[in-house]
Amino acid sequence: MKAAILVSGSGSNLQSFIDQVAGNRIDLEIAVVLANRSDAWGLVRAKKAGIDTACIEHANFADRESFDRAIANELDRFAPELIILAGFMRILSPWFVKHFEGKILNIHPALLPLYTGLHTHDRVLKAGDSHHGSTVHFVTEELDGGPRILAGRIAIRADDTADTLMSRVQAVEHQIYPQAAQLFAQGRVTYRDGNAWLDGQILKDPLILNF
Ligand code: GRF
Repeated sequence: MKAAILVSGSGSNLQSFIDQVAGNRIDLEIAVVLANRSDAWGLVRAKKAGIDTACIEHANFADRESFDRAIANELDRFAPELIILAGFMRILSPWFVKHFEGKILNIHPALLPLYTGLHTHDRVLKAGDSHHGSTVHFVTEELDGGPRILAGRIAIRADDTADTLMSRVQAVEHQIYPQAAQLFAQGRVTYRDGNAWLDGQILKDPLILNF
């Protein structure tokens, strides 16, 4: 299955996909890596792996939708069947979400529906939660609110800080994101009528892996 991966920064999740594809562990071809910032390290990772890249800077566009139309135009040249947001720090317009309906995945560093938005590790610590993690979900118009597919869960340790949580959660992400994408590539996970489906059944709650 042809995928496009969208990044804004370091691209450690992108790297995990690159490694899994190189090892033939998932049935994806990364057709293009697109960034909205020219300094995104993810672009360097993609070039090193010989993957086509595109950079379209959001700052050059008057509004969200015209930027989204430009990136969709670029992505459409590669006819991706799956769009993987990997640290892509732009909110996508309803137009974009509709254009690629049911084909966009995101990973969010929290056990959704808890802690949508930013600074999740700090907020989890302040709340005194016992567990934290990351969730792969379909992208809908609702920010971090689309149907969930797979979550990776860790127990918070007494000495965890926002930094240790970030790195522990990222290690989990590097495993669960390619796994969720593989379920989609195999046609086992699909999106229909606002729900995620696994093997023909609605996924009311995401699959959970404990780490
Ligand atoms: C990840 O932690 C992901 O949950 C969030 O952005 C971060 C991206 O990290 N959406 P990286 O660029 O893949 O290293």
